[in-house]
Amino acid sequence: MTSELLYESSAAPRSEDGERKVAQKRWRLLARALTRSLNFFEDEVLGKNEEISARRFTTFDLLHQVHLENEDECTWWLYTGLLEGELYEVLVRRISKCFTANELIGFNNTGNVCVWPSEECLAYYLLKNPEICRRRKVLELGGGMSCLAGVLAAKYCEPSSVTLTDGNARSVENVRCIVERNGMAGLTRCAVVQWARAAKALRQSSTAACSQEFNGEASYEVILCADCLFFDEARLDLVDTINGWLADDGVALVMAPRRGTTFREFAEAAVQRGFIARQVESYDTEVWSRHLDLLATNRDYCPDIHFPVLLELTKQKKIPPG
Ligand SMILES: C[S@@+](CC[C@H](N)C(=O)[O-])C[C@H]1O[C@@H](n2cnc3c(N)ncnc32)[C@H](O)[C@@H]1O
Repeated sequence: MTSELLYESSAAPRSEDGERKVAQKRWRLLARALTRSLNFFEDEVLGKNEEISARRFTTFDLLHQVHLENEDECTWWLYTGLLEGELYEVLVRRISKCFTANELIGFNNTGNVCVWPSEECLAYYLLKNPEICRRRKVLELGGGMSCLAGVLAAKYCEPSSVTLTDGNARSVENVRCIVERNGMAGLTRCAVVQWARAAKALRQSSTAACSQEFNGEASYEVILCADCLFFDEARLDLVDTINGWLADDGVALVMAPRRGTTFREFAEAAVQRGFIARQVESYDTEVWSRHLDLLATNRDYCPDIHFPVLLELTKQKKIPPG
């Protein structure tokens, strides 16, 4: 992708020559810093005020979204879904701020930009397959500002507990508001978890301790993770975090678009770490049919960056000695 060119052309001021050169230089630096984290978000463009704005494809419309009210830089939405005759609904708070390039360079803010289609598809998949989470300890990693999959699992899939996490403190604050407003605080806890810190703690200790704020339990039977595979620097930490916290008989459901080679690189790293990895494209008939429809009708739909593939990670059975 040519993010450098994209940012330059969309944001350089049309004023004095010298001023333009300084601006271009600045944008080149910003673009370089952003490229690594936004490399696969080429449908985000930087607008006039250096804000991330237009996204051309945002949802598979699996859940109906109705705007309820505004609150500071946030908006409240009612998400509903009618699945096989059952009505599902949840209140979701979304951060509606436009992020500047500088803000995106701080701790990753991609989870505050929107609820990404992978999160939507993972949530939908869990509603269709509630037995996956039933009576199980569930952990969501990198859930962004909604943790929609974990929140809906908590509300409808009868898990024994749900822990919702992200590395971005603002995302987690937002998730806390969602949990509270939906009256789910008893069953659900929220915490800031950065994979590098978690993986380091897990590597150092066999008892799975973690950050100051979050004392990870020994193991989770289900780990959820949506659209988190494109962070090159964090990939191995994410694999190690999942490995450290996943119960021996647990399953990690990792959903993400391919985004170039990033999905494959993650899957390979997971296999290298000892996981059994099963990749599924057609995991749900409805999602698959919408994908085919979009392919035929929507020129902005690009499966490489928009279609979430499911990766199921399980641990190899330990063979007892002797
Ligand atoms: C593309 S967003 C996906 C968010 C959400 N799962 C969704 O699909 O709407 C990637 C998420 O990964 C989180 N993230 C990135 N690097 C991280 C790290 N090193 N540790 C923890 N979370 C991280 C970001 O804060 C962000 O919320």
